[in-house]
Amino acid sequence: MFSIIAAIGKNNELGKANRLVFHIKDDMKHFREQTSGHKVVMGRKTWDSLPGKLSGRENIVISRHSFNGPDLIVNDVDQFIKDNIDTEEEIYIIGGGTIYQTFLPYAKHLYLTEVDASDPDADVFFPSFDKSSYSQTLIRKGTENGLEYSIIKYSKA
Ligand SMILES: NC(=O)c1ccc[n+]([C@@H]2O[C@H](COP(=O)([O-])OP(=O)(O)OC[C@H]3O[C@@H](n4cnc5c(N)ncnc54)[C@H](OP(=O)(O)O)[C@@H]3O)[C@@H](O)[C@H]2O)c1
Repeated sequence: MFSIIAAIGKNNELGKANRLVFHIKDDMKHFREQTSGHKVVMGRKTWDSLPGKLSGRENIVISRHSFNGPDLIVNDVDQFIKDNIDTEEEIYIIGGGTIYQTFLPYAKHLYLTEVDASDPDADVFFPSFDKSSYSQTLIRKGTENGLEYSIIKYSKA
């Protein structure tokens, strides 16, 4: 089973210049707690944006190329989806924009940190989706450095 986890702005902003748009410590904590001990799947650009491997997680990178560092590199994303969609384990899709777009139709849960702010310099966005096709659970709300956010779990019926 695939679960998406992302932090998005009012206009679905995800990133700018291959970095995150919003920096919220509580969101990082939520991300760490949610994904620890699980497989995390990311695009090669998101991998490049990290300081290194995410510890305590199996780091799987989608790329058309080969390189050292991740636990696994996946070249054939369609085959990866077929092989893993029916697993019991929750596999976390952690970005970026192209990878969210590819996995959105197959994700059972979306954990979205919705930040009540926008950034005109953003250059990568979360795909739009029909919220009415999901049930919603508020995990928590907060404010950090003047940024208001809600962490919401969307689940497909
Ligand atoms: N706000 C958040 O929660 C969040 C989370 C994660 C990332 N981000 C942000 O998102 C941005 C990066 O997103 P992005 O969309 O530019 O890049 P990305 O999705 O992280 O990576 C794109 C790369 O993934 C590989 N790829 C994608 N589709 C593929 C396919 N079908 N087959 C094989 N390889 C494939 C390609 O790698 P190769 O070029 O190596 O072939 C492609 O260049 C950054 O700004 C990052 O900070 C935000």
